[in-house]
Amino acid sequence: MNPEEWARRRRALAREMGSGSVAILPGAHEKIRNRDLHYRFRQDSDFLYLTGFPEPDAVMVLVPGRPEGQYLLFVRPRDRTQETWTGRRLGPEGAIREFGADQAFPIGDLGKVLPDILEGAERIYYTMGQNEGFDHTILGWINRLRERSRQGVVPPETFVSLDPLIHEMRLFKSAAEVAEMRKAARVSVAAHERVMASLAPGRYEYEVAADVLHSFARAGCEEAYTTIAGGGANACVLHYVENRDLLNAGTLLLLDAGCESEGYASDITRTYPVSGRFSPEQRALYDLVLAAQEAAIAACRPGRHWNEPHEATVRVITQGLIRLGLLKGPLRELIRDRAYETYYMHRAGHWLGLDVHDVGSYKVDGAWRELEPGMVLTVEPGIYIRPGLRGVPKGFQGIGIRIEDDVRITRSEPDVLTRGLVKTASAIETVMQNRGR
Ligand code: GLY
Ligand code: MN
Ligand code: MN
Repeated sequence: MNPEEWARRRRALAREMGSGSVAILPGAHEKIRNRDLHYRFRQDSDFLYLTGFPEPDAVMVLVPGRPEGQYLLFVRPRDRTQETWTGRRLGPEGAIREFGADQAFPIGDLGKVLPDILEGAERIYYTMGQNEGFDHTILGWINRLRERSRQGVVPPETFVSLDPLIHEMRLFKSAAEVAEMRKAARVSVAAHERVMASLAPGRYEYEVAADVLHSFARAGCEEAYTTIAGGGANACVLHYVENRDLLNAGTLLLLDAGCESEGYASDITRTYPVSGRFSPEQRALYDLVLAAQEAAIAACRPGRHWNEPHEATVRVITQGLIRLGLLKGPLRELIRDRAYETYYMHRAGHWLGLDVHDVGSYKVDGAWRELEPGMVLTVEPGIYIRPGLRGVPKGFQGIGIRIEDDVRITRSEPDVLTRGLVKTASAIETVMQNRGR
């Protein structure tokens, strides 16, 4: 990401805040995996969005109109011993040099520098409730300013949550962000193609997940979420991540796998026949999920509201389940009573961006918000028929199917970022039949 992009975002946020305000935004900390070892570090997405700064334990402070500079970073100090063990640090100098901070300080100086900045500010933009310790620290500083009010100190009295401002900005993707999401989509498509090339009975779910991870890592990307590789009835567990089982002939593999590139996610699901051909029941359900997904993508246009793609999936899936004899009754009543939820129990999608389940409100003033150019969402209907579900013919039992693509709203046609990956049942069968030829 070009540093000018981060600067542009900070300028936009500063404009929204206005003078007399201070924004305080902590980055993420490392998390213990076990004993004294950590999970791989992932920066907080809001912090990444505004700073690009990649290290843990940093805090951004934004003070619109401050004469000494409005953009301050507090970061881990350089430390030869620490750096020998755990890696290079940019330090305050690097934060200024490489990340454009107007001023930067060691994180340990936060308590010395920030209270002076808060003194005289009217409003503090800070999101409470995400880091209890830090909430207390900030309130402690404010209380100390209050105690000094008889000496003429004017403490800030207005607290505003920073989340809504940043999240509204993040909802609309810039050209640079879309380019990054296209790259993530491309790498994820290639990972799915690789799985299709070697999928066969006798392979294990974890081998599939390993191939996916290898494809991502080779492209310099990371998993945006833990891969779901569910064979047969495992596909009916929506967030199945054990990935331990054998893939059996005649079953389906539900593969929900997407990488992130520079923090920007892709999120793709396809459902592949392990032996290369769908059974008639699998095919009937697959075609139904696909029809629902296509109807939903067609509703991804400006002026349509957030829930319209979901409503389209509900209509198509309910109609189809009636046709297949899996639901009985009048269409309107089945939709009203949510009868489809026995088979389709999740929503059709979510915003997508720096977070897989990205930020941004879905309703405005109590009503579903309108889709607008620049928004990116997933479209991912599914049908899941767990084994033993009463009243369901054997051939339909233990089948789980989801089809998921990433869609950008444009001024006209929906832009399917993941369109490079085959999707119709026949196209998937053709790819799998022609392997090795
Ligand atoms: N892979 C997570 C989701 O589809 O929401
Ligand atoms: Mn998704
Ligand atoms: Mn997914």
